Amino acid sequence: MSVDFVKKHLYSGSINPAGTYQLIINLLGLYLIYRAASGWNTDMLWVYIFWLLFSTVAELKPISMPNNDQLTVSFAVHISAQILFGLPLAILSSTFANIVTDLIGRRGWKKMLFNVSQYSITIYCSWFVYQFLRPGSGPLDLKSDFLAMVMSCLTYVLVNFVLVSTVISLSQGTRWIRQLTNDVKLEMIHFATLVPVSLLIVILYNYEPLSIVILLLPLAMAHFSFDNYMTLRTETKNTIEVLADIIDKRDAYTAQHSLRVANYCEAIAHMLKLKPSDYETLITAARVHDLGKISVPDSILLKDQCLKPEERSVINDHAIIGFNILNNLRFYKSGAMFVCHHHERYDGTGYPKGLKGDQIPLGARIMAVADSYDAMTSDRPYRKAMTAEVALAEIIKNSGTQFDPQIVEVFIEIIRSERI
Ligand SMILES: [Fe+2]
Repeated sequence: MSVDFVKKHLYSGSINPAGTYQLIINLLGLYLIYRAASGWNTDMLWVYIFWLLFSTVAELKPISMPNNDQLTVSFAVHISAQILFGLPLAILSSTFANIVTDLIGRRGWKKMLFNVSQYSITIYCSWFVYQFLRPGSGPLDLKSDFLAMVMSCLTYVLVNFVLVSTVISLSQGTRWIRQLTNDVKLEMIHFATLVPVSLLIVILYNYEPLSIVILLLPLAMAHFSFDNYMTLRTETKNTIEVLADIIDKRDAYTAQHSLRVANYCEAIAHMLKLKPSDYETLITAARVHDLGKISVPDSILLKDQCLKPEERSVINDHAIIGFNILNNLRFYKSGAMFVCHHHERYDGTGYPKGLKGDQIPLGARIMAVADSYDAMTSDRPYRKAMTAEVALAEIIKNSGTQFDPQIVEVFIEIIRSERI
């Protein structure tokens, strides 16, 4: 996991938490690199050369993540280097690889400095745990050192997540715990795959140094499989959001409606302190909540007169149709239920199922308030947009009948304190 998010403002010159944090990490990292360089062992020149190249190859072709992070397979190379050859080689090979790849990628010296520093600290911590837990200081013994190796891997993952999530959280103003949980959720599979690979590199190298060549293919395949998975995920999300925006734009009065509803939902979820996973599910679903309107013809969708019952029924079907589309996509599956029920009413008179009170998923109850408020505060062909106070009064009037009173209470606080 390397960093690809250093924004211009991080080094704007003024003292800010993100800049101060980076400065501390950079100083610590540079100190560790200096110590590693002092421990350079000329007797191991060929090992150094091989591992410098191995580390550099591992840093190439990073996978871009939705959280602005970049993933590589370098974790496996760093861990195996510190276990097999000690701290200086591990830190120096990582530093060399990051400098080379950041120069090739023209990522800028600030990002490069942070990358080499955070990797050096991460490697140091994993090395420290490994040394601390090893039963003896003799040559590597796979049986007795196994626990120390596993704990060293876990330490690497933990420290890396904390260091990178903290700088993202500080620079983007996101909640630290939310950022950390999101990053872990997104990248855990990648790291979990690399733990056994790291141990295999150690075992094979210990048996016969040249045998680690055997691992290059599975390592590359694991990397590209994960890359494919992430690309598919990102492309799915982008495509569905573009579709949702096109549907909003079919009616000039609802352009960007879904985006605003997602923003209101985000504010409500923040106030309700939803779990990070529920938080993301809600926002991604809210962003495409009217996708099912793809099935509604213009003659009905854009009609500015009263709808006949059969036309109303065609519009109402959009909730179920949206659910049917999203439920087929892994990335949207957990939020599909919110889309299905975003027109339910708290008193049980809504659609499509007539669910009542807590039977309605919390995400759908939140979406209902956000959706109605945005509809009321937007122009319609048959009326001008209501003011915020008039729309709020309408929401309050329908609290307990159309809307969940607890969510209405939170929403009033958000709008009145202008937290959006
Ligand atoms: Fe809707």
